[in-house]
Amino acid sequence: MKKVLVTGAAGFIGFHVVKKLVSLGYNVVGIDSINDYYNVGLKKDRIGNLKGLPDFYFEEINICDKAKLDALFEKEKFDIVINLAAQAGVRYSIEKPYNYLDSNISGFTNILEACRRFPVKHLIFASSSSVYGANAKVPFAENDTTDHPLSLYAATKKANEALAHSYAALYGIPSTALRFFTVYGPWGRPDMAYFSFTDSIYHGKTIKVFNNGNMRRDFTYIDDIVNVIALLIDKQPSVQPDKQGQILLPSESYAPYKVYNIGNNNPVNLSDFIHILEDLIGKKAVIENLPIQKGDMLETYADIEALSNATGYRPVTDIRTGLTSFVNWYKEYFKIG
Ligand SMILES: NC(=O)c1ccc[n+]([C@@H]2O[C@H](COP(=O)([O-])OP(=O)(O)OC[C@H]3O[C@@H](n4cnc5c(N)ncnc54)[C@H](O)[C@@H]3O)[C@@H](O)[C@H]2O)c1
Repeated sequence: MKKVLVTGAAGFIGFHVVKKLVSLGYNVVGIDSINDYYNVGLKKDRIGNLKGLPDFYFEEINICDKAKLDALFEKEKFDIVINLAAQAGVRYSIEKPYNYLDSNISGFTNILEACRRFPVKHLIFASSSSVYGANAKVPFAENDTTDHPLSLYAATKKANEALAHSYAALYGIPSTALRFFTVYGPWGRPDMAYFSFTDSIYHGKTIKVFNNGNMRRDFTYIDDIVNVIALLIDKQPSVQPDKQGQILLPSESYAPYKVYNIGNNNPVNLSDFIHILEDLIGKKAVIENLPIQKGDMLETYADIEALSNATGYRPVTDIRTGLTSFVNWYKEYFKIG
């Protein structure tokens, strides 16, 4: 069976990707630096939950540690690399810009270099919907401009795409970038709104809501995400000789490189989202209404035609079903009720 490296395996998406791939019979190695950007206990619990899975082991490795990373690649000779390790979060990039440059730029370059030196069949890596930045056209599509990032985080994700494209062109490393749109679900990320809103509602803390909650966003349930990542593993992009010397659209290339939105294509109104949470939790949210923030968009969601055409992907989890699973997990994990 194919051997897969999952970086960021103690993280939210990485944890679920490992579970899915092991269930499909892949031989999986997970690495993570277990940084303290959020609750380290949660990351360790995720790893604890994965321990004992067949054909899986975990090592605490920072992707910035080139020597350790190269030694791992040399030893394991991976077929597939799924890079989810990154410094995530938009706001934190204002406080700690260099964390982003270290993990997302230097660390990611180490991944590319390792894939070059110890060739892999497919590199799949996390980009983000934030690369669309100031693009005002909805739904966001892969051929839209990504030339106007609005945070350092988004700029590093855009840089990841550019770096991977250059390695695909230079060294023929088949690479796929995934632009995630707000992923949510059990074992999720405490820094994200669905999690912090749940915390606040349970503990009677105030939630800041902008524009009376009249904002629409795509929320993508984790199972839909991991199912399509599993489908993509064997869909490595190939060289497109007919595209050489042609005028290319932003999503096209002659190199073995593809970029996909991975979202839900069904935006949810923020106030509806809060009402569903209140209903599931059985408590009213304490809300502070604030005017819309400068630069905030009323609606963002993903055009997923390209991913659907490539894999047959159609997200199947509606927001109430997904939030029900999340709230049930939250209650069990934090021993509430
Ligand atoms: N969750 C979302 O909605 C979302 C949206 C857009 C993009 N993404 C991207 O998807 C990927 C996974 O996101 P997530 O939600 O699971 O985040 P997460 O923070 O839960 O997981 C990332 C993991 O990477 C690890 N990590 C960070 N720097 C590292 C380094 N230098 N070496 C090794 N490990 C390191 C962290 O400890 C963490 O466990 C990230 O690249 C993120 O930017 C996620």
